[in-house]
Amino acid sequence: MEEERKYHIGFGRRDLGDDLPFAAVLCGDPARTRRIATAFPGVELIRPLSENRGLASFLVRIPGGRKIVCVTSGMGAPSLSIVANELAALGLSRMIRVGTTGSIQDPVRAGSVIITRAALCAQGASLDIAPPEYPAAADPFLTMALVQAARELKVDWHMGVTASVDTFFEGQERTLTSANPYLLRRLQGITEEYRRLNILNFEMECGTLLKMSGVYGFAAGCVCAVIDDRTTGECIDLSLKERAEADAIGVALKALEDMDAGCP
Ligand code: URA
Repeated sequence: MEEERKYHIGFGRRDLGDDLPFAAVLCGDPARTRRIATAFPGVELIRPLSENRGLASFLVRIPGGRKIVCVTSGMGAPSLSIVANELAALGLSRMIRVGTTGSIQDPVRAGSVIITRAALCAQGASLDIAPPEYPAAADPFLTMALVQAARELKVDWHMGVTASVDTFFEGQERTLTSANPYLLRRLQGITEEYRRLNILNFEMECGTLLKMSGVYGFAAGCVCAVIDDRTTGECIDLSLKERAEADAIGVALKALEDMDAGCP
């Protein structure tokens, strides 16, 4: 017998209404999820779904009339993998991560947004789902919809390969702002190595989401607000965060509004 409510996300199929939502938008930070659901222009709150474990979730209607769920995935891939699994079990067939990220390439400035087309997935959780060499590839239709939306909204956008890692400090080669100034030898110089591999940015969830999408058979994409520029230092630029986050949210919602429903 199907559970009434999924154990971690705290809502179930019946809470979503007769027809399944068109997509799930996943945010690591519950404040961002709430911002989309309750304070973003054009978004109509249908109902809050759950606050279980701090994973605030909402059913909303976006401009154009489509119903989606905004769900908090928590920090890092282990938490995201649980949330994405339960959403897939409920039947959600499209998921877009709307996150934050640090740029490692000179032309990609804090304040812009990055659309991920594929990830270098250096994440332990993903190894429980697929072997390391399994591709972490974004859905091409979702990704094109994100690009088209970014163009139309005239935001400062980039598209490329993202490095998804498990730690904010060591794995992203932070030493000055970390309580641990020591880095394992294999992590010393990792930012420069990734830069030379033409990787645009560091973040902590997307690679596992993209691998899961391939294995489970749902479509996934990712758009992140760049909130720090790792070519110049280690600190988050809070003065740019709100605007960049609004741009990333706007891009995701417009992509979902404009997407051809026939796309998988
Ligand atoms: N999220 C990350 O994982 N890294 C950053 O630098 C910013 C946001």
